[in-house]
Amino acid sequence: MASTNPRHFHKILAIESSCDETSAAVYCAQTKTIQQKIYSQVELHRAYGGVVPEIASRSHLEKLYGVVEQALSQADCTLKDIDAIAYTRGPGLVGPLLIGACYADALAYALQVPLVPVHHLEAHITIALHEYQALQFPFLALLVSGGHTELILAESLGHYRILGSTMDDAAGEAFDKSGKIMGLNYPAGPEIAQQATTVDPQEPVPELPEPLKGKQTLDFSFSGLKTAFARAWQLHKNQYSPAAFAWAIEQAIVDALLKRVEQALDQHPDIPLVVAGGVAANRCLREKIKTCMTNRKQSAYFPSMQYCTDNAGMIVHNAYLRLTKLSKPEVLKQKVQPRWPIDSLNPW
Ligand code: KG4
Ligand code: ZN
Repeated sequence: MASTNPRHFHKILAIESSCDETSAAVYCAQTKTIQQKIYSQVELHRAYGGVVPEIASRSHLEKLYGVVEQALSQADCTLKDIDAIAYTRGPGLVGPLLIGACYADALAYALQVPLVPVHHLEAHITIALHEYQALQFPFLALLVSGGHTELILAESLGHYRILGSTMDDAAGEAFDKSGKIMGLNYPAGPEIAQQATTVDPQEPVPELPEPLKGKQTLDFSFSGLKTAFARAWQLHKNQYSPAAFAWAIEQAIVDALLKRVEQALDQHPDIPLVVAGGVAANRCLREKIKTCMTNRKQSAYFPSMQYCTDNAGMIVHNAYLRLTKLSKPEVLKQKVQPRWPIDSLNPW
């Protein structure tokens, strides 16, 4: 295996295939820039109202080669210039993960360069370090996507403490399931957010319960809220406008997230906050979090949209951090790990 001396990593190629985005990215150490290409499978899964793992695996297999070629061409290089290959080892869907892992493994073997397994959630968080020079460990991270809702204390690279996580549905899932009830397409988060902006401030809106009200916990729960929403929709569909329903569910989800963030910040004051994952695109969440952090005289960092949804840019940047700041990649027995808690992550 080639050396892990940081000076030898001029260019790294990464593959992301944990769910329904096929993505490849190249990191150039000299310019500290990322070139990435993402192919989203969302249209393939829309008819089913969620991701179908078998369809996702087949599509990754079909698209991966082209996506890698495009990322290399955007970075103005070829495979001969690549000094390490990174891939998403987990967490994620086993079939899609295996497609990316086998591809990356074969490529690293053929090129005789190190293979770097990356933790998908750590990468979602650490990409903020690429975009914001002022950000440093330790910080609090709110990771909110279609599959994850976690509050994480990021102590240093490789060291994370899960302060709270969802007991059932993820925040994005709560948006998507509520949208499905309203007859919206998957993924419904963006459309709910859009409809919510059209609500008339004077118009009545349905009342929804606060999840885990009065419970002393940093955990989240959204399935009860979804059931309450389904019932409200069934009983009062003609009483309130769709925009009023969209507004009510958006507020309920955002306020539940904000409340836990506030509680976590009370326990860990004086640290900044990173908000990552697809739901971080939600404008209402962004505004409420920014206000909360301004009041606390702390900063809130939101990775840009291209690095919020699943992407290989965050994987390649995380691989670079690990290769240059930690010792050397561990040879892990299992190529993929579909369930891989971030607090059990080996820092190498
Ligand atoms: O991180 P992501 O792209 O994929 C994974 O789940 O891994 O997150 C997708 C989720 C979906 O549930 C989608 O509805 C939600 O993020 N989402 C939003 C918004 N944009 C995407 N939810 C609320 N408001 C948005 N603007
Ligand atoms: Zn993700």
